[in-house]
Amino acid sequence: MKDSNSATLPLVTIVLFLSLSWRATSDSSSQVDKFLQCLANSSALMLESIYTPSNSSFESALQAYIRNHRFLTPETPKSVAIVAPTHVSHVQATVVCAKDNGVQIRVRSGGHDYEGLSYRSNVTFVILDMFNLRSIDVDVDNEVAFVQAGATIGELYYKIANQSKDHAYPAGVCLSLGTGGHFNGGGYGNMMRKYGLSVDNILDAQVVGADGNILDQASMGKDLFWAIRGGGGASFAVIVS
Ligand SMILES: *[C@@H]1O[C@H](CO)[C@@H](O)[C@H](O)[C@H]1NC(C)=O
Ligand SMILES: *[C@@H]1O[C@H](CO)[C@@H](O)[C@H](O)[C@H]1NC(C)=O
Ligand SMILES: *[C@@H]1O[C@H](CO)[C@@H](O)[C@H](O)[C@H]1NC(C)=O
Ligand SMILES: *[C@@H]1O[C@H](CO)[C@@H](O)[C@H](O)[C@H]1NC(C)=O
Repeated sequence: MKDSNSATLPLVTIVLFLSLSWRATSDSSSQVDKFLQCLANSSALMLESIYTPSNSSFESALQAYIRNHRFLTPETPKSVAIVAPTHVSHVQATVVCAKDNGVQIRVRSGGHDYEGLSYRSNVTFVILDMFNLRSIDVDVDNEVAFVQAGATIGELYYKIANQSKDHAYPAGVCLSLGTGGHFNGGGYGNMMRKYGLSVDNILDAQVVGADGNILDQASMGKDLFWAIRGGGGASFAVIVS
């Protein structure tokens, strides 16, 4: 009796498991198809910004900004796509299409979050990878700089130093940190005693909100502007610059 019971239990378990995982796969693949179709419909140019696992460069794009090598393993959950926008409209399309189709967004800039939250998830997700959005304009006369979220702090330091021996920006010491995530999370470094954190020196931000609108400091309101200066990468909006 005992033997026959223990022989049937695993069989039942296996059948149940298979049928559940089949369901999950078929639901999520149509969800993913709809998401990709929605992106493709938003703009023909968008296609060049999308890597799916069938693109030969998907793996290298995925791994390029994985800074915690613990997650450079086949077991690390893969995103259904990597969208590497070249224009803010691609960010808007990704937010809208992901929301409409129940796909989670992970936003990645330098990939220095050591828990891998910018490129890992346990639900169906897309990586919105900011590496193509990395322009930096330094205006020494007005002592301001405009930086896109995919630029690294090393690139920012270089651009400032290239134009002035007397200026700098307070931020961290690891030069491959992405400005988007670093500034969004606070940004402490060598200059903080005198000049504070990176967030203390942020004058404005361009973000894409949850409904896909482009917002700046004036249109996003005080609360959101406060929240994105320390609240963490992508918790409240996608920081574009
Ligand atoms: C994409 O566009 C095609 C053609 O206009 C339309 O048939 C389809 O429903 C659209 N798909 C999505 C997900 O928007
Ligand atoms: C991925 O492959 C598709 C189909 O071949 C292509 O249209 C698209 O441009 C590729 N994406 C990238 C980022 O190379
Ligand atoms: C996914 O991860 C979140 C955050 O760690 C956790 O709260 C949730 O229970 C997990 N969901 C599943 C289905 O594992
Ligand atoms: C600034 O950048 C330009 C263009 O890359 C370069 O030619 C020049 O040598 C740089 N100047 C300094 C001071 O680094």
